Amino acid sequence: MGILSGKHIVLGITGGIAAYKSVTLLRLLVKAGAEVQVVMTPAGKEFITPVTLAALSGKPVVSEFFSANTGEWHSHVDLGLWADLMVIAPATASTIGKMANGIADNMLVTTYLSAKEHVMIAPAMDLDMMAHPSTIRNLKMLQSDGVEIIEPAAGELASHLVGKGRMEEPEKIFEKIVSFFGHKTDLIGKKVVITAGPTYERIDPVRFVGNYSTGKMGFAIAEECADRGAEVVLVCGPVNLQTVNSGIRRVDAENAREMLAVVEKEAYDCDIAVFSAAVADYRPESCCDSKIKREGMENMTLKMVRNPDIAATVGENKKSGQILVGFALETDHERENALLKIRNKNLDMVVLNSLRDKGACFGTDTNKITILDADGSESAFELKDKRMVAKDIVDAIVSKLC
Ligand code: CTP
Repeated sequence: MGILSGKHIVLGITGGIAAYKSVTLLRLLVKAGAEVQVVMTPAGKEFITPVTLAALSGKPVVSEFFSANTGEWHSHVDLGLWADLMVIAPATASTIGKMANGIADNMLVTTYLSAKEHVMIAPAMDLDMMAHPSTIRNLKMLQSDGVEIIEPAAGELASHLVGKGRMEEPEKIFEKIVSFFGHKTDLIGKKVVITAGPTYERIDPVRFVGNYSTGKMGFAIAEECADRGAEVVLVCGPVNLQTVNSGIRRVDAENAREMLAVVEKEAYDCDIAVFSAAVADYRPESCCDSKIKREGMENMTLKMVRNPDIAATVGENKKSGQILVGFALETDHERENALLKIRNKNLDMVVLNSLRDKGACFGTDTNKITILDADGSESAFELKDKRMVAKDIVDAIVSKLC
């Protein structure tokens, strides 16, 4: 599952130097879970090989009306019906002209004429061609036919001339596609590290010190961030939850020290870190290799030692621009304790839950939070489903991104 899971996209590629950028666009679409059918004009194949595109999309590239080997007919009508969106990138002056005037002499233009859903084109050509009255007229016609034009940028062109005509960058086209399907795109290009769940600190091979955390809140935040386009690394303790979103890379850790090792490796280049794990503050000083037997032991004393503080460690090494978010689950003096955590761990905000609030506890599907910001502001929210709470938390984080 990804942000574009279940979406059918026809990616049209025509004969321009910018065709090499379509490989990146295709990779982004496939990574986001979209099913992509590449349709190329004959000229497009001169710029980029169908083998590369077929391997990346997992589907043979369609270019001719008939397959030369088998005589199989490629139905542009079926493709037009199948597509939830058609994106032509790059779109050359010639293809734009054919589309505007219904000249259906290749598979790409016939597919366009059969497309039932939205069509976007990303023009790419030399500045003189771009500025030619014929191109301007054709683009206007396409626009009035409902085609969305992704404006080309100005810059150095393949001809080494400088001007308007460079195809928009694939990442930006991807953003437009994601938002076309109704998703927020505010975390595209951001790396988010999230800790979730409890940690288990071993006593012996069959026993541990742990807590009741289920990881639901952290998983919901991970889903929300991935849905908004982030690259998410979810570092989780022992939990019974599955991750299906292809935007989430999950790394499992059993105890605090293992969790810290993963977070240190992943957080140095992250944009955002959210510490939602209920990390055990202490661990048994030593872990027995064999099961502790009760025979001859009336009482048992377990000596515990301090675990590293993951949030504080990342806070100490915080890079400029990084946003660090902690959680505080408190039973009393909630605000004071939460503000102390912001200061002591160098956090930008803390999500406060009070155990005094019904429905705001480990294992529930709901949560009631107050977000306290390092700048002194705070916002309190109603009791909500954890997925909706995750939206509020991520909205607050996004509002702090510069
Ligand atoms: N945290 C952490 N590593 C720890 C302990 C806590 O990363 N060893 C993080 C939690 O994930 C949370 C924040 O620090 O984001 C606050 O955790 P909490 O357990 O509420 O506070 P503590 O700092 O452990 O203080 P106390 O238990 O005394 O309230």
